[in-house]
Amino acid sequence: MAAPLICPSILASDFARLGEEVAALEAAGADWVHVDVMDGHFVPNITLGPDVVKALRPHTSLPFDVHLMVAPVDPWLEAYRDAGADILTVHPESGPHLHRTLGRIRQLGAKAGVVLNPGTPVSIVEEVVELVDLVLLMSVNPGFGGQSFIEATLGKIERTRALLDRAGSKAVLQIDGGVTAANAGACVAAGADALVAGTAVFRGGAAAYAANIAALKAARPAAA
Ligand code: DX5
Ligand code: ZN
Repeated sequence: MAAPLICPSILASDFARLGEEVAALEAAGADWVHVDVMDGHFVPNITLGPDVVKALRPHTSLPFDVHLMVAPVDPWLEAYRDAGADILTVHPESGPHLHRTLGRIRQLGAKAGVVLNPGTPVSIVEEVVELVDLVLLMSVNPGFGGQSFIEATLGKIERTRALLDRAGSKAVLQIDGGVTAANAGACVAAGADALVAGTAVFRGGAAAYAANIAALKAARPAAA
């Protein structure tokens, strides 16, 4: 079982010290920085605008994986790309035209991701598989950090993995929400390549980041 990419969500970081936080994540062995963008309309919370992402860019050389929970999303793609996003991930529901949006992201020179809410069917990936570099499965409903992992996600990971393999897609399969060292192993065993984690990375403060990330990377499924 290959170790997963660990993508800490800065939603759980100290917003008063964001620059130091992303630098600390890099030093602690994070693979990507996951940036949760919320608009107070598509999801019931407001977080980080493109100017914040731009201000963070010089503080790390890690890829910025920007999860856009914004509707409509198209008017914001360019601003986040210009701010330094390497991957832009969008919800089909933030529409109106998923296929066009994914094409636009690649046109901007970024990697394109599609994200499925717990209630969104895996089959939607089939229609856009040629256009995606990443598929993100939400294991909580989007809007807040610190929620509990929805167990049914494990079956969904297996079905998505099978779909991507069948299509010959090399898209990264990423999981987001309630990921901990207790469920990370099962996610990877089911076929996940990358894990987003907020609470599980930031708990204990900066001195604990490296151990928290290492624990997620090393996690194995619980014995049956
Ligand atoms: C939820 C976000 C997640 C979440 C992760 O809308 O997309 O990235 O904040 O945080 P934890 O790991 O605390 O669930
Ligand atoms: Zn996210």
